[in-house]
Amino acid sequence: IPVQPFDMVIFGGTGDLAMRKILPALYYRDKDKQMPVEGRIIGISRAKITQEDYIAQAKAALVEYVAAKDLDDDTEARFLQRLHYFTLDAKGDNGWQPLIDLLAARPQVVRAFYLSTPPKLFGPICQNLARKNLITESSRVVVEKPIGTSLASAQKINEEIGAVFQENQIFRIDHYLGKETVQNLMALRFANSLFEPLWNHQWIDHVQISVAEAIGIGGRGEYYDSSGALRDMVQNHILQLLCIVAMEPPVVFGADAVRDEKLKVLRALRAIGPREVRQKTVRGRYASGAVDGKSVIGYMEEEGVPQDSITETFVAIKAEVDNWRWSGVPFYLRTGKRMPERRSEIVIQFKETPHLIFPKNVNQVRSNRLAIRLQPKEGIRLYLMTKVPGPGGMRMRQVPLNLSFAEAFQDRFPLGYERLLMDVLRGNATLFMRRDEVETAWSWCEPILQGWAEMSEKPQSYNAGTWGPTSSIALVERDNRTWYEEGY
Ligand code: BG6
Repeated sequence: IPVQPFDMVIFGGTGDLAMRKILPALYYRDKDKQMPVEGRIIGISRAKITQEDYIAQAKAALVEYVAAKDLDDDTEARFLQRLHYFTLDAKGDNGWQPLIDLLAARPQVVRAFYLSTPPKLFGPICQNLARKNLITESSRVVVEKPIGTSLASAQKINEEIGAVFQENQIFRIDHYLGKETVQNLMALRFANSLFEPLWNHQWIDHVQISVAEAIGIGGRGEYYDSSGALRDMVQNHILQLLCIVAMEPPVVFGADAVRDEKLKVLRALRAIGPREVRQKTVRGRYASGAVDGKSVIGYMEEEGVPQDSITETFVAIKAEVDNWRWSGVPFYLRTGKRMPERRSEIVIQFKETPHLIFPKNVNQVRSNRLAIRLQPKEGIRLYLMTKVPGPGGMRMRQVPLNLSFAEAFQDRFPLGYERLLMDVLRGNATLFMRRDEVETAWSWCEPILQGWAEMSEKPQSYNAGTWGPTSSIALVERDNRTWYEEGY
């Protein structure tokens, strides 16, 4: 579906997200000839700079965040011409008239208000948009996480936005859903007949979802310390991945069909009450150590982290989905900063064969495993038992069938934001979170947070460059299982 003429108004237009992600993504879409000539991008912030300054900033951002081989003069000139800039007080009344005048000239075009600001501004900006009559029928609003830090605060934010926009005009971004490999997970499950018959408790032993990062918290100490790994990664990205792995086949690949199914999974998540957190969750915090051969400081030494912080930078959880398909199949989730490498992976561990016909003394037959690599080195591996060539009888070894996306497709992998921004302009909300999903995810996280608050303990320490505290290993070993960390 071609994108119609649009005005995209970015509040927080000079900010980090706009410069690092939004503008480069729009540039790439322009380069791929996916943007109508009549598409305008309007940066808004408090900064008292001119439109020329803004264009110069945007140009510098492209040089920094777009691969040099993808920068070309024609696209750059075309793209920069789309840009406008206004200084205004998003919460107050000053400076709005030029924006109103610019938009008024084209009341029919798609209007997207991208709130790339702290969430406390979502409400005031929405009210102002309404008060100034800027919301047309074809308007929509885009917001990013964090949508709240608890159920109550998420509800408040959703109320504030919902007072002005209809739910189908609200696009809540989870940038994981824009990743090619995450969309591929749906292709794997629902465009192949091979897996679906096996995709249940009869054949699957357990599922692992690991999102490991090598980076620390960088300059984000203040934000991160008030958040922690559960709020920053699990409530949104990891639960979204879990939903896509666990959901029933939607009737169509459409916004409500997909989100209805994801919601059912979230509702089926077994609550982890405050008294179960010790048994089913592990919180960790990185101490100094070495990542990639370089020594790095610990979390407590990072800038902006208070001395009495008890925030976690790692979390592991044994989650269970209480429904027919997944009865008795644990979903082990883990995510952390300062792990040995950046690696996001979903592992589906199948059950053992019912009976072993080969000699037990020479064979340790291991069950099949499907590893879906989300990033980097995107691909899918299916581990199969194979006979070792040569004499020595029926000796087996596990060998992967390997699908590497880079080898299979020569094309550039678009940035997650490219897909998501185009979907906003097209009005397709399939890869965005609906209000009920966000709030149900919070309802599941909240008792865990409450349990941790009641324990009031420091998270367990792990050295930077390791796979987390030893108790996270015990969490799966207690169940006679093990985390997979194969090299690629
Ligand atoms: C963000 C988190 O949502 O996702 C960050 O706030 C995290 O803490 C990031 O680093 C990870 O995203 P990606 O795309 O690099 O896996």
